[in-house]
Amino acid sequence: MMEGLSEKSRTVFFLSSEATPFAKTGGLADVAGSLPDALRRQGVDVRVGLPFYRVTRKGGFSTRPLYSDLEVPLGSELLKGHVIETHTKEGVPVYLFEREDLFDRPNLYATSEGDYYDNLERFAYFSRAALIFAKLIGIPFDVIHCHDWQTGLVPAYLKTIYLDDPFFAKTASLFTIHNLGYQGLFSKEKLAVCSLPPDVFHLEGVEYWGRISLLKAGVIYADALTTVSPAYAKEIQTPEFGFGMEGILKKRSANLYGILNGTDYSVWSPEKDPELPYPYDLSNLREKARNKKALLNELRLAEALENKPLFGMISRLSAQKGCDLLVKVMDELVHLGAGVVILGAGEQEYQSLLEKAAGNRPDRVAIRIGFNESLAHRIIAGADMLLMPSRYEPCGLTQMYALRYGTVPVVRATGGLDDTIVQFDPESKQGNGFKFSPHSPEALMEALKKALRIYREPATWEVLITNGMKEDFSWERSAQRYVDLYKTISLTPKSNFLQ
Ligand code: ADP
Ligand code: GLC
Repeated sequence: MMEGLSEKSRTVFFLSSEATPFAKTGGLADVAGSLPDALRRQGVDVRVGLPFYRVTRKGGFSTRPLYSDLEVPLGSELLKGHVIETHTKEGVPVYLFEREDLFDRPNLYATSEGDYYDNLERFAYFSRAALIFAKLIGIPFDVIHCHDWQTGLVPAYLKTIYLDDPFFAKTASLFTIHNLGYQGLFSKEKLAVCSLPPDVFHLEGVEYWGRISLLKAGVIYADALTTVSPAYAKEIQTPEFGFGMEGILKKRSANLYGILNGTDYSVWSPEKDPELPYPYDLSNLREKARNKKALLNELRLAEALENKPLFGMISRLSAQKGCDLLVKVMDELVHLGAGVVILGAGEQEYQSLLEKAAGNRPDRVAIRIGFNESLAHRIIAGADMLLMPSRYEPCGLTQMYALRYGTVPVVRATGGLDDTIVQFDPESKQGNGFKFSPHSPEALMEALKKALRIYREPATWEVLITNGMKEDFSWERSAQRYVDLYKTISLTPKSNFLQ
């Protein structure tokens, strides 16, 4: 333990725009829903801050009003809101920031027509409210740990409007990039709405191609940065993956760390998954086959697929996820006798492409559009292989879930997929999946064919899935790395490359 700062006294405010089980659109929620508990197990006094969405209000969680009439200045207005308290599974306090007009909506960020028009106001409110609330409860957190663009203003506020505030004099900020592809872009005319001084609007401030970027605000002003896998931490410093921010990320590389996400095995383990008709583990793999049969029935796929390879994909439907590649190989896969199950929500364009590619083979290809947590578990268990042909993938969680369920990942070698999946070698019998590099249907098809060859050798296939099921991606190691980083940044004089 480091001198002068005991584990007990380290306080962390963990701010995220989504966290399971309260609100989820993707992997960020899985991380923000399970990392705080892992941090608490390591002795950190962590508290989570989240917006109070409609889905959270309706979720049946045990809550109590904690603070009413929080006053949050936003531009020229003073907005009032409430704070409600609930807890994670393991007792971490969760503060829900309520403001009906901003968060009591059908979705978190957008409708099918596009983003909510006032996302800047919504997340500026959340960011500022969190800091005001910290002062009200009198906790000058050692670290405020922010995630993605929705909380990017927090580090910026600490370095501007709160710069001389003695309350936050010892508070360091950590900004975790889960996905550089979402930059939180808004018109520069809105600078005043987020209560930032005009002099932050420049190339080495929040300006991004003439607009305000909340992601860039986090990247520039946080004391340290992390991203969710070692490979992605390197990739984002290159033009191919940097979305134009590779220059600043490179400048900040001394304070940029890649920490691989973990898996919450209390939720994602086939032997105790309440969503599965037939729980199983390594000792009774035959039960996995029964889950496959049940899944085929549930999705009204041909019974004949029971003895054929079944591919699953569970994904946001966006350019990032490589749906275009799957579309191009679908015919050939079906021709080779395989079945395909897709669960996805997101952009209409990819939805239509996939539906078109499925053509008139409802006996072989099932596409379910929408967000369905329960079905996601049954696909991970029932499929033989999980497809992740991502263009880029900061970490990716579903491939780690699949490994635990004995479902073999076939992935593009990028970001966290490259860090977690090891190409199976039939000679040495080492490896846990299949991967390919060029973003091309040919390269994907080649990897699929390799996988299909091994699938046809049951004994070797069993070695492969056993390798995967034995992998351990639990949170403990990564949580320890965050704890070490919290220590480092709360003991080092606050900095960013501008100073
Ligand atoms: P990303 O965060 O980029 O979407 P991840 O692999 O990190 O990708 O995490 C995705 C998470 O969201 C996983 O828990 C996955 O099971 C879940 N998920 C994605 N799409 C759906 C869907 N349509 N229905 C249910 N769960 C989904
Ligand atoms: C993002 C990334 C995904 C990552 C998740 C959680 O949504 O796209 O790769 O696993 O965040 O960090």
